Order: sequence, then C-alpha cells, then structure tokens
Amino acid sequence: MEPRSLILDMDVGVDDSVAILYLAARPDVRIAAVGSVHGNVEAPLAAENARRVLELCGLDDVPAATGCWRPMAQELATAGWVHGEDGLGNTNQPPPRRGPSGEHAVAQLIRLAHERPGIYEVVATGPLTNLGTALVMDRELPRLIRSVTIMGGSADGVGNAAPFGEANIWHDPEAAELVFNAGWPITMVGLDVTMVTRLEEPELAAIAAAATPQARFATAILQHYLGVYAKSFGGRRICPLHDPLAAGIAADPTLVTSALDAEVHVSRDGETRGMTMIDRRPKYMEAEGRRGPFTRVALQVDSQRFVDDLVGRLTRPLPGRPD
Ligand code: BDR
Ligand code: CA
Repeated sequence: MEPRSLILDMDVGVDDSVAILYLAARPDVRIAAVGSVHGNVEAPLAAENARRVLELCGLDDVPAATGCWRPMAQELATAGWVHGEDGLGNTNQPPPRRGPSGEHAVAQLIRLAHERPGIYEVVATGPLTNLGTALVMDRELPRLIRSVTIMGGSADGVGNAAPFGEANIWHDPEAAELVFNAGWPITMVGLDVTMVTRLEEPELAAIAAAATPQARFATAILQHYLGVYAKSFGGRRICPLHDPLAAGIAADPTLVTSALDAEVHVSRDGETRGMTMIDRRPKYMEAEGRRGPFTRVALQVDSQRFVDDLVGRLTRPLPGRPD
C-alpha cells in the first residue's frame, strides 16, 4: 500500500515534536511538508523547531514553512510556561542546519493541495489559523484535501487554556469554526481522549533508557512539560499525549474505538469563547435543520495500543537507520 502523504500544521511545541518523531518512525506515512503556526511559541520559532526535529530524524528534505503569526480576531498569546520559552522545554538545542523554506505555510498548503488533488491528509496540532486562512483564500481546498485530523477541543466542553477552551481552539476560535464547517472529512481528537492516553513512569523510564537519538531528544524536551503537568497530577510525572495521539489516529484511524459523527461549532462569545459545542443528536434529525458538515469526534481510543506503539517507535532505530 502507498504510504499516506501528510501535511503537518503545528505550533511546535513539546508534544508536537514527539508527534513528528513518531510519524517519522512510521514507514506507512510520508511527511510531505510542515507548516508552522503561532500558539505554543511564535510561528517562526515553531518552524525552526520543526526543522530541528525533522533533521534529527534524517528528514532534511521535508520543507518547514512559517505560517500565520497571530489569530484572526484576538491578540497573539503564547504558552512558553508550558513548553519552555524555546518550545522545547528550555533545552538549548543547536540551530537547525536549514533556514526557512521561503514559502508561507498557507501558500504551501494551497499549492500542494492543487498539485496532488485528493492525496494529502492534514494533521493539525496547533491553532487552526493557517487552515482557516487557506479556506478563506481558496474555496476549492476542501475537495482537494483527502482528510483533516485535528488535535483540539473536547467532546465534554472541558478546557485547559480556559475553563471551557482547549488551547488550540481557544487560540483562534474564528479559524476553528471555519475548519469544522468546511465540508472536508475531518476528525477531532480532543482532550477527552488525549488526557487519558499518557506516558507514565514505566514508559518514561523505557524511553529514558533507550539510546536512540529520538528517545534521547524526547526525554530531554519532556522534563519541563512533565513538571508543568505534575501540578495537575498530584506531583506525579505523567505526560498526556495530545498531539502524538492525533498523529497516531491520522496514521491509523482504527485506534478510535468509539466515535460520533456530529456537527461541531465553536463558541465565539463571552466566557465560553473557544469551547467546542458538539450536537449529539442523531444525524437523521434533519427536521431540526441539521445537515452537517459533520465531524468525526473521537470519544474513545485504544490508548494502550497507541502508547505501546509510540514507545516502541521511539526506542527502536529509525527504519533504514543503523543507530
Ligand atoms: C494542545 O495545546 C498545545 O499546548 C499542545 O501542543 C497541544 O496541541 C493541547 O491542548
Ligand atoms: Ca500543539
């Protein structure tokens, strides 16, 4: 079978980086390009981090373009306190060998979609400003992209960046509303499933004991992130796998064991701004004026299978590499 061709759209970020490491180790996917976006860090630094991680994986030929620097209708806000000011847990990594690709991430997405219609699958693990902007610029885009998998939102309306707002949606609710309702096949991987899919002490120890470059890098960048999350987990070292799980589901949709096809809208008002609102009524209730577009909302996943797969891929040499 042909490998899936992925375009990654990310605010790279600690868990975005682990998602790249994971995908780079899957022979059944090909990372065609990365676009960066504001979010965890500013967009140029996110692109720089993408290049760092790609180069670590020997993917020097994959372009990493800088994308939108701010949300559509609110001020820029970054999350250095979660990901470190460098987005990589304040680990003082050397600069990447390559500079920016020179193309804007939105232009890159639109260009690739037209070059190979129906081929590319987008994995978006940051605020959705690039995708929303691309939709505003090009009405053909939804029929050119094969699928979109996003890490964002939550089915039960619980947030992390705000009481009801998951960070990626909360950083740009206007863009998220466009992306959920563009009419492309879209899967939402929200906090409900990412918060229960975790690396805990045994998995962290297995990764720390491994000699592969990707395991060493992951162990280094995770330390700061684990310290932040320890405050939510009673001092325990636990890493929720937000972006890696979305990457895993994009590569292997059978990881989702229960899902709902539902209309998803994003609150843009008041204290619920950034909340994903899922219409859980059955799809056939068109009398209520509901006709989609529908999002496949992941409700349950095979967390153990994914965690084992992730640990295996981080701790074994990359395919085609002897280390
Ligand atoms: C999401 O927000 C970011 O901090 C993470 O990288 C992830 O994409 C989790 O809410
Ligand atoms: Ca992210």
